Amino acid sequence: MLSGKNILLGITGGIAAYKTSFLVRLLIKAGASVKVVMTQSASSFVTPLTLSTLSKNPVLLDFIHEEDGSLSWNNHVELGLWADVMIIAPATANTLSKMANGNCDNLLLATYLSAKCPVFFAPAMDLDMYKHPSTKTSFEKLQSFGNIMIPAESGELASGLSGEGRMAEPENILAFLENHLGQGLPLQGKRVLITAGPTHEALDPVRFLGNRSTGTMGFELAKKAQELGAEVVLVSGPTTLTIATSNINLQRVSTAEEMYLEVHKYYSYCDIFIGAAAVADYRPKTISEQKIKKKAGDEMKIELERTKDILKSLGEAKKHQFLVGFALETENELEHAKDKLAGKNLDAIIVNSLNNKGAGFGTLTNKITFLDKNSGSKTFDVKAKSEVASDIWEEIIKRIHV
Ligand code: C5P
Repeated sequence: MLSGKNILLGITGGIAAYKTSFLVRLLIKAGASVKVVMTQSASSFVTPLTLSTLSKNPVLLDFIHEEDGSLSWNNHVELGLWADVMIIAPATANTLSKMANGNCDNLLLATYLSAKCPVFFAPAMDLDMYKHPSTKTSFEKLQSFGNIMIPAESGELASGLSGEGRMAEPENILAFLENHLGQGLPLQGKRVLITAGPTHEALDPVRFLGNRSTGTMGFELAKKAQELGAEVVLVSGPTTLTIATSNINLQRVSTAEEMYLEVHKYYSYCDIFIGAAAVADYRPKTISEQKIKKKAGDEMKIELERTKDILKSLGEAKKHQFLVGFALETENELEHAKDKLAGKNLDAIIVNSLNNKGAGFGTLTNKITFLDKNSGSKTFDVKAKSEVASDIWEEIIKRIHV
């Protein structure tokens, strides 16, 4: 949810400020870009150096800063516009009151007033301050402006007292944000399992049978699903591709058997499965322990045996899952795809033909036809695989929400 988002963290002067270093770490790990703006008093609780190191951005404290011997202005308007989300944490009673009343006597407040994005605030104060009518008025006023409160938690307070007023723990702030930002996304709350890439079936310690799949289509489908709010597990065969965000659970495997086992670990929990992997249909019957040597004569025979059909096994075990397969064909594309759709008990199949220019393995583009079990079909133009992924999700979402 936070991957690729610009997050502006405003830190005010409360003891909970020390926890913001963990919050910055979590936001960065979730794939966000983070900039920190803090009040002077916050810098007594946590150092700007810690936060700039963790956020990989300079920390902004004042309207003016020194750069190469001259003074320069920190543009709060630009900062406010840069942010996709602003979080004030910890938000002290003092800053909350100023925010509620339009005061603007520091950079953080000026940035808050300039921000057009959703603003979250996580109050932190002693229990009596938290309950005080003037603090409650600030909460209500800020919420009436559309700001979103991340309620304080109960427990031990720095004063030695115990009660409501502790800043929400960084993990809880992160979960709150993800949950809030995910609301309304079409795959929010859905668990998606995707296979990608080729499989490698060993012949001996140095050789294998493989195929030309790069994994691009499956990886794009996984990224898009995550952007649409899903929890994603991606099981990939050998590929050079990587995933920048830790929000996708990437499991790397090598053989069809390993892919089968990994997929079945997650299958019962998933709502939607897409088989984008080019799984080997056959593997060498035996794997030589030593490198196979050349022998006299021109021919060599390798005995092969069938691998398990992962998708078929999922079709047989299907309960509530929406199952989607791929059919890469070289002839009679639609007919073969329809047979697979029925034979593997799928809900939909994506047909791509090697006869189409710009479709199939090793290309950055693809041309597909989406076919469902009720004979609904839609054919798309040649497009970048990232756009094809959007088309596929659009078709799936239409069908799971009917
Ligand atoms: O039958 P065919 O191999 O053409 O079917 C292709 C579809 O089946 C793809 O979605 C592919 O990921 C899946 N498949 C599989 N396990 C296999 C072979 C194919 O999951 N052993």
